[in-house]
Amino acid sequence: MRIGVLTGGGDCPGLNAVLRAIVRRADTGLDHTVIGFRYGWRGLIEGATVSLDRAAVRGTLPRGGTILGSSRTNPYKTEGGVERVLRTLQREAIDALIAIGGEDTLGVARKLGAEGVRAVGVPKTIDNDLSATEVTFGFDTAVQTAVDAIDRLHTTAESHDRVMVVEVMGRHAGWVALHSGLAGGANAILIPERSFDVGALCDRLEARHARGENASIVVVAEGATPVEGTMTLLSGEIDEFGHVRLGGIGGRVADEIRARTGFDTRTTILGHVLRGGTPTAFDRILASRFGVEAADAAHDGDFATMVALQCDRIVRVPIEAGVGGLKLVDPERYALAEVFLG
Ligand code: F6P
Repeated sequence: MRIGVLTGGGDCPGLNAVLRAIVRRADTGLDHTVIGFRYGWRGLIEGATVSLDRAAVRGTLPRGGTILGSSRTNPYKTEGGVERVLRTLQREAIDALIAIGGEDTLGVARKLGAEGVRAVGVPKTIDNDLSATEVTFGFDTAVQTAVDAIDRLHTTAESHDRVMVVEVMGRHAGWVALHSGLAGGANAILIPERSFDVGALCDRLEARHARGENASIVVVAEGATPVEGTMTLLSGEIDEFGHVRLGGIGGRVADEIRARTGFDTRTTILGHVLRGGTPTAFDRILASRFGVEAADAAHDGDFATMVALQCDRIVRVPIEAGVGGLKLVDPERYALAEVFLG
């Protein structure tokens, strides 16, 4: 069997661990050949391939990013894109395609299934917003990276009696903000799922100062939005999946805090720092488990599926279960955080 693999969308730590696991499973357990496609779906449109054998993945377990490269190319938004993908799969005699990505990348894999593409999905995103899987690899590393930064920001905030606003990634879901804010001891956590009232936020900060607690940490997800009409917002460019380029809400919140309270306030945007670097042990293991299961699913001819973590077991679910709707922070989870906020 010839198994094709691609990594699409935003990169994250753990991608190379998935590739390594697919190659090691295919090479030793299943005796198949693995062909990598460069830069996500762009590699299938352009026919850009690289052989993935043991030598190619040697030493990549701890390495962040993806040795294949990634992109946000959408074949359905490219002139003749789908036909070119199908031609590449035929020319390369690909028997099964493993797509590693988030809702956009796996959404394309699902649609291509109707064109006869035999695909298996591996869920990937630091945002942890894919349904059907309890967690995606990349998320644990992103949260730990954010917590390490927040721990550092506490000491400098306390030295200067400052409010530190920390902007983290999270386009539609606030899981990174929620978990890093909880673990980092934040005093406020703003997430996309709950519009925030900046006046109420400032009241909370002033109450802290009235108690002599003059240093505060406010964690803001880049996709957080203010209650209608309470703040003006910036807007960025749109990608091929219709997502607006985010970033900057943290600075706007800091401006409002400074203007309304007079407190000395600074902003730190963690941004792509959360997407880089070496994966944690948890992510290395989860990514390896996903990779082995994806190779087995391809071998079994179990297509239009996505591997997932459920009750600590790696299972296969219909790919639409993973991409049908985003997994957002539910009110109960946020209610737990509120015990520690303020
Ligand atoms: O989808 C994961 C993610 O990291 C989001 O949290 C973030 O908004 C986006 O990717 C950034 O995308 P890019 O790296 O293409 O700017």
